[in-house]
Amino acid sequence: MKFPARIAPSILACNLARLSDECSAALTSGGDLIHFDVMDSIFVPNLTFGAPLLSSLRKDGFAGFVDVHIMANNVDLLVEDCAAAGANSITIHFEATSHVHRALSRIRTLGCEVGLAINISTPLDAIEYVLDEIDMLLVMTINPGFGGQSLIPAALPKIEKARQILDRGGHATRIQVDGGVKVANIRTIADAGADTFVVGSDFFSAPDYAVRCAEFRAQLA
Ligand code: DX5
Ligand code: ZN
Repeated sequence: MKFPARIAPSILACNLARLSDECSAALTSGGDLIHFDVMDSIFVPNLTFGAPLLSSLRKDGFAGFVDVHIMANNVDLLVEDCAAAGANSITIHFEATSHVHRALSRIRTLGCEVGLAINISTPLDAIEYVLDEIDMLLVMTINPGFGGQSLIPAALPKIEKARQILDRGGHATRIQVDGGVKVANIRTIADAGADTFVVGSDFFSAPDYAVRCAEFRAQLA
């Protein structure tokens, strides 16, 4: 199954002191959704932000689609908080909880789109029995925790295999990639079967976000 490509600027790389303006600029420049990285300094080494910041963004009037990527262990609590704060989709990590199915079902009940992320070393077999529960599979292309890393090449055949498994099972499930996505490699990643591209440093380091977004789209055309 082929989905239209979506560009998801990751605010981890934006000027957080101007978050609301940065989110609006990312979408008016051609981004499709805002990627919001929640990190707890336990599941991943870094500490970022959580539901209160998303609440503030909503209070400030930002109405765009927010895709929350939870890289944290307290999954059940954070799912509730992020949904209440105004998330449109919530992705949890397979590796972060023993009760993946329960957390995915809860995200659905809370009215959000459902995402499941897998780290580089996690085999696709591990998620076989929850594929019916998800709208999007996030195949990590780096070890999560920091922006500005290089894509790990082993992720490319994994994306291909994931697309085959999803198609064979008749699952209308998107494949997102996160980490090291750049103008220079986005086409290769798309050809492997990904359709939703998280872009952090290569997007927000651009002097003109609209020009950069057009460069991504040109690669995908
Ligand atoms: C890292 C985050 C990513 C990060 C990607 O753990 O999940 O969303 O922002 O940043 P870049 O695009 O710079 O690799
Ligand atoms: Zn992310």
